[in-house]
Amino acid sequence: MGGGPTGRAALKRAALARLPDPPTNVHYLTADVTTDPLPDTLAGAGFDATARTLVVFEAVAQYLPADGVEPTFAWAGALPRGSRLVFTYLPGTVWRERPRASRRYGWLSAYEPAEVPALLARHGLTLREDVGAEAYPARYPQLHGRRLTLREIERVVLAEVAG
Ligand SMILES: C[S@@+](CC[C@H](N)C(=O)[O-])C[C@H]1O[C@@H](n2cnc3c(N)ncnc32)[C@H](O)[C@@H]1O
Repeated sequence: MGGGPTGRAALKRAALARLPDPPTNVHYLTADVTTDPLPDTLAGAGFDATARTLVVFEAVAQYLPADGVEPTFAWAGALPRGSRLVFTYLPGTVWRERPRASRRYGWLSAYEPAEVPALLARHGLTLREDVGAEAYPARYPQLHGRRLTLREIERVVLAEVAG
């Protein structure tokens, strides 16, 4: 995770600490995913690169320049077969039509949905699905009574290392 001024990492740590039986297998790492090699960062924390892995990259891609996203996709695509990557992105139309929001929130990149399969394929990843806000609640389970939603400006992708 990035450090960041929002203090999200601190909020997450506090939430986990409040659990009656906090997990002991959660590791917090600080990395700039555009420049710090993820394999090295994770290996240093004991990550087993031979294990099938689920990578969640939620609401991060749009804050990176397009070439800054590539190292994460490359790392995910090199994971063992059957590993999965879930990530959200801004569609190009949203980025172009909302210049004020782009400046305000610091959005730096977007993708056309039609280009996502080829983008993933370049990194050994196969698109399994790419859904918007309407399809999201039905497609993704609503766990523990929470109503999980996707903002209407985002799409969520599930991709897999097909090997
Ligand atoms: C809108 S928040 C999404 C938060 C995330 N879904 C979570 O649950 O913490 C955007 C996140 O992108 C992270 N981020 C932005 N640029 C980054 C970078 N170069 N390397 C690593 N993380 C970065 C920020 O630290 C922030 O936590």
